Amino acid sequence: MVSPKILLIVGGGIAAYKACELVRLVRKGGGEVTCVLTDGGSHFVTAMTLAALSEQPVHTTLWDLKNEAEMGHIQLSREADLVVVCPATADLIAKMAAGIADDLATTLLLATDKPVLAVPAMNVRMWQHAATVRNVATLRAAGVTVMEPDEGPMACGEYGPGRLPEPEAVWARIGRMLSAGASTGSSFAQPELVEGSVLLAAQPDFATPAHRPLFGRHVLVTAGPTHEPIDPVRYIANRSSGKQGFAIAAAAAEAGARVTLVAGPVSLPTPAGVERIDVETAREMTEAVKAALPADIAIMVAAVADWRVAEEAGRKLKKDGSGEVPALKLAENPDILAGLAKSARRPGLLIGFAAETHDVITHAQAKLARKGADWIIANDVSGDVMGGASNAVHIVTADGVESLPEMPKGAVARALVERIANAL
Ligand code: C5P
Repeated sequence: MVSPKILLIVGGGIAAYKACELVRLVRKGGGEVTCVLTDGGSHFVTAMTLAALSEQPVHTTLWDLKNEAEMGHIQLSREADLVVVCPATADLIAKMAAGIADDLATTLLLATDKPVLAVPAMNVRMWQHAATVRNVATLRAAGVTVMEPDEGPMACGEYGPGRLPEPEAVWARIGRMLSAGASTGSSFAQPELVEGSVLLAAQPDFATPAHRPLFGRHVLVTAGPTHEPIDPVRYIANRSSGKQGFAIAAAAAEAGARVTLVAGPVSLPTPAGVERIDVETAREMTEAVKAALPADIAIMVAAVADWRVAEEAGRKLKKDGSGEVPALKLAENPDILAGLAKSARRPGLLIGFAAETHDVITHAQAKLARKGADWIIANDVSGDVMGGASNAVHIVTADGVESLPEMPKGAVARALVERIANAL
């Protein structure tokens, strides 16, 4: 699998510090980043910072002869799958629109044949100035993706649109542009998340700063199976892949939430903008969930093992030749969802999952009451849902049941996040 390559051009504005976080997110998501720092940008962040975060040399000048011999600036602009300008200052945007190439960044932007994403950050008056409006329109007409800036208080003391969107939102846009191109065959996002992303691309407003319905909320998600050790080499597990929980964490982050994902042992990439805590056992998951509180919304997707081995053997169990088999005594694991429902720090919206093989809705309704959850998302796991790419769920609440058709797990996640946002 090939990692997608991002060429990140960091312009000169106070928001340049957010570019550092963007480098971290892209790398965490499996991408490679090469940074180009403009003269202006170097007044706000150092090449050293970007080099350390990207683990790549940072390019700052057209006139580096060594670089020109080894890797021309044309090549630098073509090696990337996507060129991202973040922050894109009014000056950079103007130069891009006019086709000016008077430094390394603008030369690369003129020379590239790859998609370009510009993430503006500037004072509100500069953003609203007729010249900038014209330049942005020119760029968009030329095929450059220009994100809408966030609205809010600015470093200069004024208020309005012009703030750099949060790095998570930029990351999400990068993910969508890459998955839309899908030319890299990359491992940037798991297939479900790519599907979710394509879905988002069809509804571009959902993840824009103007509509981030979970902004300011803390969402806690558990996902994956747990492993309950028998001895140092063996464990009890289940078939949960973690895909549905990871897709939900990704969708919540795209909707602007701060997301903590407590993950059992799975091999999935961490979704953009999500803080992931890896655990193995149900008891570790319980502790990690407690430590992550308070949360506004908790979505317990993990297939937590009901039982663990009462006494884990300190050494590998061995056959002794007698033909006798060891008897495993089991102990019940804590029910994380039910415990959370009773706790003083119960999240305002508490959602559980119910994987059933028969009488799906009846069991889910019983579980709603028994566990003290607000919603139970019931799914029929009699087919190959566990580990599969799609899911058909029923949202069971005190008010009734809404059944969704079978769809990719990313789309299920989006649908759920939309309903959560509406419920708030
Ligand atoms: O009882 P059952 O395992 O079917 O309940 C499923 C729901 O309860 C899921 O939301 C799951 O994450 C949660 N659960 C839990 N702790 C357990 C068992 C299940 O949080 N020990």
